[in-house]
Amino acid sequence: MRLAQLLLLLSPVLQASSRPSRKTYDTHDYYVIHHNPAHGHSPQDSAAALGTEFVEQVGELKDHYLVRIEKSSASSLDRRSPEAGPGDAVVASFHNLKRSEEPIAHSVRSLLPQTLRQRTKRAPIPSFPELDEIQDSLDIHDPIFSSQWHIVNKEFPQHMMNVTGLWKEGVTGKGVISALVDDGLDYESEDLKVNFYAAGSYDFNDHEPLPKPKLWDDRHGTRCAGEIAAAKNDVCGVGLAYESKVAGLRILSGPISDADESAALNYGFQENAIYSCSWGPPDSGRDMEGPNLLIQKAVLNGINNGRGGKGSVFVFASGNGAGSGDACNFDGYTNSIYSVTVGAIDNQGLHPYYSEACAANMIVTYSSGSGKHISTTDVGQKTCSHQHGGTSAAAPLAVGVFALALDVRPDLTWRDIQHLCVYSAAIINPEDPDWEVTASGRPFSYKYGYGKLDAWAYVTMARTWNLVKPQVWMDIATVELRDAAMVGTEMTGGEPIVPEGVSSSTTVTQEMLEEWNFEKLEHITVQVWIRHTRRGDVEVELISPAGIKSVLASQRRFDSATTGFVGWKFMTLKHWDENPVGKWTVRVKDQNNTEKGYFLGWSMTMWGSAIDASLAEKFELTDEHLNLPPAGSEQTKHHPKPTAHLPDDHASQMGEATRPAFQDDKSGTETATGGPTSFPDAAEAGMFDNIERLMSNQLWLIGAFSVVILFAAGAGLFFWLRKRRARRARSAYAPLPGDTMPMRSLDPRGAPPAGSGVPGPGERSAGGTRELYDAFGVGSDEEDEGDADEHSALTGGAGRYGQNAAPATYHDGFLDDNGLTSARTTGAPYRDDVPDVAAAGATRAKAPSPHRAGSDGSGDGSWQDAAADHEAAPLRP
Ligand SMILES: *[C@@H]1O[C@H](CO)[C@@H](O)[C@H](O)[C@H]1NC(C)=O
Ligand SMILES: *[C@@H]1O[C@H](CO)[C@@H](O)[C@H](O)[C@H]1NC(C)=O
Repeated sequence: MRLAQLLLLLSPVLQASSRPSRKTYDTHDYYVIHHNPAHGHSPQDSAAALGTEFVEQVGELKDHYLVRIEKSSASSLDRRSPEAGPGDAVVASFHNLKRSEEPIAHSVRSLLPQTLRQRTKRAPIPSFPELDEIQDSLDIHDPIFSSQWHIVNKEFPQHMMNVTGLWKEGVTGKGVISALVDDGLDYESEDLKVNFYAAGSYDFNDHEPLPKPKLWDDRHGTRCAGEIAAAKNDVCGVGLAYESKVAGLRILSGPISDADESAALNYGFQENAIYSCSWGPPDSGRDMEGPNLLIQKAVLNGINNGRGGKGSVFVFASGNGAGSGDACNFDGYTNSIYSVTVGAIDNQGLHPYYSEACAANMIVTYSSGSGKHISTTDVGQKTCSHQHGGTSAAAPLAVGVFALALDVRPDLTWRDIQHLCVYSAAIINPEDPDWEVTASGRPFSYKYGYGKLDAWAYVTMARTWNLVKPQVWMDIATVELRDAAMVGTEMTGGEPIVPEGVSSSTTVTQEMLEEWNFEKLEHITVQVWIRHTRRGDVEVELISPAGIKSVLASQRRFDSATTGFVGWKFMTLKHWDENPVGKWTVRVKDQNNTEKGYFLGWSMTMWGSAIDASLAEKFELTDEHLNLPPAGSEQTKHHPKPTAHLPDDHASQMGEATRPAFQDDKSGTETATGGPTSFPDAAEAGMFDNIERLMSNQLWLIGAFSVVILFAAGAGLFFWLRKRRARRARSAYAPLPGDTMPMRSLDPRGAPPAGSGVPGPGERSAGGTRELYDAFGVGSDEEDEGDADEHSALTGGAGRYGQNAAPATYHDGFLDDNGLTSARTTGAPYRDDVPDVAAAGATRAKAPSPHRAGSDGSGDGSWQDAAADHEAAPLRP
């Protein structure tokens, strides 16, 4: 008895020094917990708190313990199967525990589910028998096939596209056309000729029907095309979908107008199924640029109407600027919800240092690094390239896989393509600290997205895939912080940004989900208004109800722009399948703090699938916005060549799998280095200590601000009624219960000039309905004009705010979730009393439940319109 008790007491010690116990992976699920002994609980207590059985210490790792739970239908959902959905009972109980106030919550720092993987010997296999076998059985005689390691990797067999099994099944991309939006496509190459689709091609640089590469460096598009559809013949290698077709849309070999770029992105869009885009704004680490409104409209048009309504598939390379501190969330093409963004891994499965990371990265595929390039077709009749690389060589491999999937399942919509990425991608380098288990139980990494694309796994899952229900969205109304306003294109006010961060939160309720017909979460876009004298110092993160943190903006050492973020829209995929109900927090930090900044406000849109498919409508952008020429926008632009920012040593540099993409803050959470499910410190005590002091520095701004208002009113700036969400008459501007925001009355100085067509303050009570003005002028050309958040207001019917039912000048504060916005003469940060729902709501179908938003710690609070929708014509003075 005594001995048994003694043994029990000593058991952790004994186990730590003893040999590992026998694991029963077929009957149990295993997890590693990182235990914090500082709170007086034993590791066994921590294990029990998660409902798991304590096993032993993990090797020699201090405070890391293996725990297990018996497999059962409730606890052992297959983490990678779509049917499983979000749910791992232990992960869930970890999140619950962390949310709870229980003392033991502090003892469990993190949780990492264990999955079994086959490690493969690193030694080169002298003669890989399978290569011969594959060539024989598939009758492949392409001379460089054996150099195409991305198809058959003799040295690192676990790192290849895994496509040959599909070829043997006869899946080769027949009937699918991919368009290379690039610098041309050499259709006279013997390797591409048979698969070239002339009718889907056009040269937008030289305005000719055929996309002949003409400049000395017009090689990129041809090389990318070879990766997708190089024919199985006696020239060079083979494409992943070697019986699919490719079209060329030449736009990168000179300046291009927005109109031409838009036309290119929709060119032949009933036949061209996939648009392979290995380009974007410069990857300099300084630029922040997205597609302007016309191009956004083209992309959305492709999504809504391309491929017979199933949607064009847009595939974008994540960018080659990681070495310069660039990240793909600063690029409005790669962070669009409509793009599949593809990063790179190299022939050893490592992260090449150029490949950009961000929360919008969906998957990775192979490219240059650790000593190897991609071998493919080149410009010339029989010329091959062994020099291809960068993320722009990775994206076409994803395109090839999608072409194979569409061969098998032509009915997949653009969102099914994305879901299949999320569900079928495989984790690589599991020890990489950049991985974090999301609320759905799926690991996500800024560097790898949801993981590596495996052609066989993807297409196999596609074969039996149930199409997703239509897309819906849910606008989480704008939260604005203290005194924030926009006058013309100037932002004023806002909460001073301190090193530890300024947090602002909003709550999503079950009722809101029902109201918006919203079933399951996919993408989240977050638009922010931040002014800062050095943009590269600003960090922005989104923290979900389950405590999952998405880094939206990371520090960029070369970005010294003084423009801040004028409604820039970030995107994250990290919350895919997470339950959105609960508190969402945006935190803006500046850990350098040598330059000044203010957080003015933010808004968020959640995108996902519909509860009731019959009620879902396609998202639309309205024409109105085209009437608003963005200030300073260029008429034409010249996209840099995809290789412009690709470092010369992109292939020679060794990759890595040991560094998190974004260094975390000093607040001591494990998120950056922990890898596993980690928790941000919820309570940031003292975070606002500095605010009062800093606020006093802001007094001059308030003064300056008033002058600007007067000036603005006098000058009679153009302004436009803003409108959004009009397609559904769901709006009501209900007072928020307990709202602490001082509601200032309409300032007469802010009245629009006479004759502007905009009713003055006196008229506003007459109608009972009130329109919201958006005070946000269109900012610099770097400002993304809202990528897709303007709901059509021109299609509104009876019972909604019509154009003539817009008599009011009620203003809800400046920051609504459209980046495209209108300057208003009434630039003051006023808000008047909130109209009576009963009076205003008479014409509305239903009123949503208002919900609270607050800026933590700020006495000022914030408020938001519950779900503003209204429509109005643009008004001009
Ligand atoms: C690769 O493809 C084969 C079939 O050719 C399949 O059995 C295997 O599971 C695939 N590998 C992965 C990692 O999906
Ligand atoms: C802070 O900013 C200054 C000036 O931009 C810069 O010289 C310094 O290296 C930065 N420090 C950190 C820790 O980022």
